Amino acid sequence: MNVLLTGGMGYIGSHVAVVLLQAGHHVVLYDNLCNSEIETLARIEQIAGVRPTFIQADIRSAKALTDALKHHAIETVLHFAGLKAVGESAINPVDYYANNVGGTVSLLEAMRETGIRSLVFSGSATVYGEPQYLPLDEAHPLCATNPYGRTKLHIEEMLRDLSASDPLWRIVCLRYFNPVGAHESGLIGEKPVGTPNNLMPYIARVAAGELKELSVFGNDYPTPDGTGVRDYIHVMDLAEGHMAALGWLTGHPGCHAINLGTGQGYSVLEMVKAFASASERDVPYQIAPRRAGDVAACYANPEKALKELGWQAQRGLPDMCASTWKFVSSRPEGRG
Ligand code: NAD
Ligand code: UD1
Repeated sequence: MNVLLTGGMGYIGSHVAVVLLQAGHHVVLYDNLCNSEIETLARIEQIAGVRPTFIQADIRSAKALTDALKHHAIETVLHFAGLKAVGESAINPVDYYANNVGGTVSLLEAMRETGIRSLVFSGSATVYGEPQYLPLDEAHPLCATNPYGRTKLHIEEMLRDLSASDPLWRIVCLRYFNPVGAHESGLIGEKPVGTPNNLMPYIARVAAGELKELSVFGNDYPTPDGTGVRDYIHVMDLAEGHMAALGWLTGHPGCHAINLGTGQGYSVLEMVKAFASASERDVPYQIAPRRAGDVAACYANPEKALKELGWQAQRGLPDMCASTWKFVSSRPEGRG
């Protein structure tokens, strides 16, 4: 199949690209490199043995997108491009609405123009807001608690409106829980710019000796050890979930939401312990106040993905930590 990945040079898109190339799909990566590097292209090629087509352009250009879709006879779009930092979204909400919502409108215009009606969207478990019950299934009420989350919710709503207006659309919103880990080669992975906001990249930089210690945001939550619990999912499992969704979409018109999570929650302290063990390094930490906007626990009910897509996560926490460590410690700045 000819597929176009907006944001395909980023953390999740690059892993999905590898899996799709290895399955024989023709892959076009469409990215403006605002949060990724050109070197990723050669690394994807090194792993997959095939070089994907790369187009450096912005999703807010419907013209450039239309040209790309036509020129490569694209059949399905996987839409990863977007800005994703929660804190930054509260400081620059307009950038988030312009890039995430505006960029998606322009993508949908280009798809309408070219008659492509098949879309896999990178959604987020952030659309569930504060959990009213656990585990979170797709019927849980939706609510956004910050501008980033609101862009994800607006986009999902837009996609549901679109699907209601035209039965030919086939759309799946994959709601990711907490993607972590890296390809087993250590060649591609998550490389946040500046100090990481998310737990796993922060722990990895502490283990590498680049940051002094981890601040554990709160140890008085109603969880077994008092620290926050999340559903961490290996990025390669996530990538395989996209592959499954791509095949499934062919026979499923409409707009569907499907969780991609493991169903298993781990606390911050469990993450620290697992990472220290995988890296054989100390991960010093101190207990700090709760982070504003955090919830005690968040994990998926992954049954719909199994029932519909025939997919479930295969990789465990040791693998998530070991692959992250391999990626981080193989970078020159990560050798500590
Ligand atoms: P990422 O920043 O690594 O990748 C996004 C890619 O999109 C980058 O390569 C960036 O250069 C590109 N991009 C951004 N704006 C663009 C634009 N206007 N035009 C063209 N390219 C553009 O992020 P990621 O972690 O790979 O996330 C991918 C998607 O998954 C995002 O939509 C994100 O919101 C969503 N998501 C991520 C997580 C997570 O924890 N990583 C969790 C839930 C949902
Ligand atoms: C965060 C975002 C969420 C986004 C997700 C992507 C916030 C409030 N939420 O979720 O919208 O979809 O990333 O993966 O930013 N922690 C520490 N110390 C740290 C960093 C984190 O103790 O330095 C704790 C947090 O309090 C939380 C857990 O680690 O309990 C996971 O945090 P993080 O990786 O930031 O993910 P989320 O908060 O789940």
